[in-house]
Amino acid sequence: MAFNPLQEKGVPLEKQLRNWSELNQTPYDTHSVHPYTRCRIIAMNGIEVESIIFGHQYHRHTADMDLRRQLAMVRRIEQQQQKAVGALIPGEETTLEVTIGYEQVAVDLTAWVAQSEPNAYAKQCYDFGLLEDFDHLYRYANLLDLTSPRKAAELVGQLTEITPGRPTFMEHRHPFDDVRKPLAKDGDPLSLMHAMTITAAEQQTMNFYMNMANRFIEPVARGLYTEIAEIEEQHVTQYGSLLPPDCTWAEMLVQHEYNECYMYWSFMQNEDDSRVKALWELHLNFEIEHLRQACEIMKKVDGKDPEAMLPKELPEPVKFQSNKEYVRKVLGSQVNLTAKETEFLPMDSLDKNFRYFGYRDAVNGNVPAPTEAIINEHRQREGSDYRLETEGPHPVDWLRQQQAAE
Ligand SMILES: [Fe+2]
Ligand SMILES: [Fe+2]
Ligand SMILES: [Fe+2]
Ligand SMILES: [Fe+2]
Repeated sequence: MAFNPLQEKGVPLEKQLRNWSELNQTPYDTHSVHPYTRCRIIAMNGIEVESIIFGHQYHRHTADMDLRRQLAMVRRIEQQQQKAVGALIPGEETTLEVTIGYEQVAVDLTAWVAQSEPNAYAKQCYDFGLLEDFDHLYRYANLLDLTSPRKAAELVGQLTEITPGRPTFMEHRHPFDDVRKPLAKDGDPLSLMHAMTITAAEQQTMNFYMNMANRFIEPVARGLYTEIAEIEEQHVTQYGSLLPPDCTWAEMLVQHEYNECYMYWSFMQNEDDSRVKALWELHLNFEIEHLRQACEIMKKVDGKDPEAMLPKELPEPVKFQSNKEYVRKVLGSQVNLTAKETEFLPMDSLDKNFRYFGYRDAVNGNVPAPTEAIINEHRQREGSDYRLETEGPHPVDWLRQQQAAE
């Protein structure tokens, strides 16, 4: 199944424009959709959003009018792709239900990437971030349980456990300590694509929470989104800092189009909804042409051969799969880590005067952080917190279930 998008023939750009009814796709049925179909839709929406934002940045940084027009044309198609993908999410799914999908994406996509990442340092970064999004899923699931008849277990389809990760109130680090070492430009192309994919996914989550926090009435819900949105800023800082900073704009354009090809091709392999699968295939055929054009731009602008920086074929497809055992293993060994500059180390090994503690105290204040308050409220009202532990008790003693104090 070797596939090289550089050797395929895509759809000519002038044939890629679609009308409103083609873009306004009928949404999936929220009760029968496979949770990983929802995850793939959320992930591809994030990939398209990144390609659009990147396209805007590129055109603001070049004076070449022909190039600016060419970028505007491709960007319009990326917008159409985003519209078609985004339309698949039904309006019956509330903001909070969609949020559960976002965090399931963060858990299972990051866990997949961590397990297939060739670079040891990047893998550490993914493992580290994984436990934080895993915790967000648990916090939001508790809010959902208190406010809606629909449970998070149904949304994640028992494929992802819901239980504490690195508790969110401990995730708040000084900004200096979220900046990671960049990957080498000539490193494994798979590492670059992983970093691009996770950065795009986290960026989309950051944007979503930034804009959704004020859509709730309950102060605890508004607080929860506010607090977790700041962690997503930390995650975008972490993953974005992995990207090699010494690439040209044209190289980054090629990398974006290549990664879009990789992601649509990957998701086509495992999609069991035939209508959604057909959309992935159509968009792959669009991306092949975007990639061809990006390669032409790179040859012209940089005078360099794009094929020299790309693999001969796409790597193994990115896959949404259940990663319960892997997540438990990382939880058991890394829940107590924090970061000091670019490295990870146990919280209790830090000097008490280290900026981590000052920052954490400054943002958490004297009352429980919203991510703690929601659990306290759930324990008070229901006697315990909401969890979905399908593989036995929590692997970390101090995070095992507690009952409300009598
Ligand atoms: Fe695209
Ligand atoms: Fe998250
Ligand atoms: Fe995140
Ligand atoms: Fe594209």
